[in-house]
Amino acid sequence: MARILKEYPSVSLRKESLRLNPEDLDGKIDFVRIFGRAGPVHIEIGTGKGTFLLNQARAQPGDNFFGIEWARKYYRFAVDRIGRWGLTNVRIIRTDAVTFLADFVPDNSVDCFHIYFPDPWPKKRHHKRRFICPANLEHLIRCLKTGGQLKIATDHADYFEQIKQVLTVGAGQCACPRLEQIDFLPTAGAEASEWVGTNFERKYLKDQRPIYTLAVKKT
Ligand SMILES: C[S@@+](CC[C@H](N)C(=O)[O-])C[C@H]1O[C@@H](n2cnc3c(N)ncnc32)[C@H](O)[C@@H]1O
Repeated sequence: MARILKEYPSVSLRKESLRLNPEDLDGKIDFVRIFGRAGPVHIEIGTGKGTFLLNQARAQPGDNFFGIEWARKYYRFAVDRIGRWGLTNVRIIRTDAVTFLADFVPDNSVDCFHIYFPDPWPKKRHHKRRFICPANLEHLIRCLKTGGQLKIATDHADYFEQIKQVLTVGAGQCACPRLEQIDFLPTAGAEASEWVGTNFERKYLKDQRPIYTLAVKKT
C-alpha cells in the first residue's frame, strides 16, 4: 500500500515555503524572498530522495539549499524527509531543471550547482537528453556568481567523457575561458571512500563501479 505522506505546515504552504510550485513563481526567482534571508545559494539538480540536500543543509545552516526534482515519487520522498528533519534552509521544486534554469534562475545568483549522478541516457539515440550539454552549460555559467562552483559526480564513463568535453577540460585546466578546474571536495554526508554519499553513489559503490567527479569554478 502506498505510504500516506504527513503534511508539514512549513512544507505544504504553496508560497514562501519549502514546497514550491512553478506556477507560484512570477518571472525570475528572488532567492532572498524564497528563503526569507540573504545567504549563499546552492542548487541541486536531480535531488532524488534528497540525501545530499539534507546532510549539506544541516552542515551549513547559514547557506540556502534549493533542490530541483521532476520525478513525483522522489520529490515527495524528499519533501517528507526535509520536513521531518526540521530544516528551514531548504526549498524544493518539482519541475524540469532545463526549463527552470532557463526561465527562472537569474544571472549571477548561484554560489554552487550540485549535479550528482545525472541520468546517463546510455543509448546513443538518447544522448541528446543528457543534462550536461552545451546549451545547459551556458545557463549554468550564466546563473553562477563569479567564483561560484559547479560540482558533478557520475558512475558513467561515457557520460563523464561527454561532460569533460562539454566543459573542455584538458590537463587540469578548463579551456572554457570562464571556468577553472578545482579540487572536488567530498560533501558533508560522504563517508570514508564516498564523494557525495547519495543513494545512487552508495548503490553504485556496492556494485564496485568507479565514480568520476569534476568541479569547476567560474572565473
Ligand atoms: C540517477 S538519479 C540521482 C539522484 C541523486 N542525485 C543521487 O545521487 O542519489 C537522477 C535524478 O535526477 C532527476 N532528473 C533527471 N533529469 C531531471 C531534470 N531535467 N529536471 C529535474 N530532475 C531531473 C531524476 O528524476 C532522478 O531523481
